[in-house]
Amino acid sequence: MRIVLLGAPGVGKGTQAERLAADFHRPKISTGDLLREAVRNKTELGVQAKQYMDQGKLVPDAVVIGIVQEKVSQPVCAKGFILDGFPRTVVQAEELSKMLSVCGSELERVVNFEVPREEIIRRLAGRRNCPKCQAVFHVDSSPPQKTGVCDRCGENLVQRSDDKRETVEARLKIYDEHTAPLIAYYRGRGLLSTLDGFGTVDVVYERLTRLLAEHGAT
Ligand code: AP5
Repeated sequence: MRIVLLGAPGVGKGTQAERLAADFHRPKISTGDLLREAVRNKTELGVQAKQYMDQGKLVPDAVVIGIVQEKVSQPVCAKGFILDGFPRTVVQAEELSKMLSVCGSELERVVNFEVPREEIIRRLAGRRNCPKCQAVFHVDSSPPQKTGVCDRCGENLVQRSDDKRETVEARLKIYDEHTAPLIAYYRGRGLLSTLDGFGTVDVVYERLTRLLAEHGAT
């Protein structure tokens, strides 16, 4: 399983990546999670990344490529990985291809999640995150057992600072300009599959695992 989950903010990439990682025992590499961890720990990378993330802008390619390179080269990724939120630009996609070819491997599938914009806005407005274990909830679709508290670790849930309405609009615009071109890029390489991401988490997961199995990418 060497796959990329592609799609606009809030389509459910992180939610599905988490389930795939648990069921197929493959590491999930989420650049958003890694960057948020760096911001929380106030590392040099985190301080640099925060100014971009708070405005909904992309963190510079060189920074993100370095993070992914370090992860993909770890032994735990030798049997595969699930990339969530990377690549996001054509430059990142080309660097990923180079990284993999150095280890004699290549991507097996890129899954592009399609969800109507009004549903994306609904999902992001109601998303709540655990700042400690990164678990993701939704106030209506996937509520925690106790309001505002993480089911997994008991930490108080928070709303991501970039889920504010105006920042969401900026992120969607950036997605359209910089990331959506990857759809044609991967289609041209015969790697793209489109997935209907509208429906419950279970229904979407069933579609996703079926699609991956059909392409021998599980
Ligand atoms: P990142 O964290 O990657 O954000 P994103 O791509 O905008 O995606 P999201 O995490 O918002 O959404 P998702 O698709 O994972 O949805 P989720 O599963 O959470 O990036 C954040 C920032 O970091 C970027 O803006 C940028 O600054 C920087 N960055 C990251 N990667 C970068 C890169 N490669 N290059 C440059 N900069 C980078 O679901 C959303 C909500 O919906 C949740 O509440 C969930 O419970 C709910 N939900 C999920 N599925 C369903 C369903 N089927 N039905 C109903 N509700 C659902």
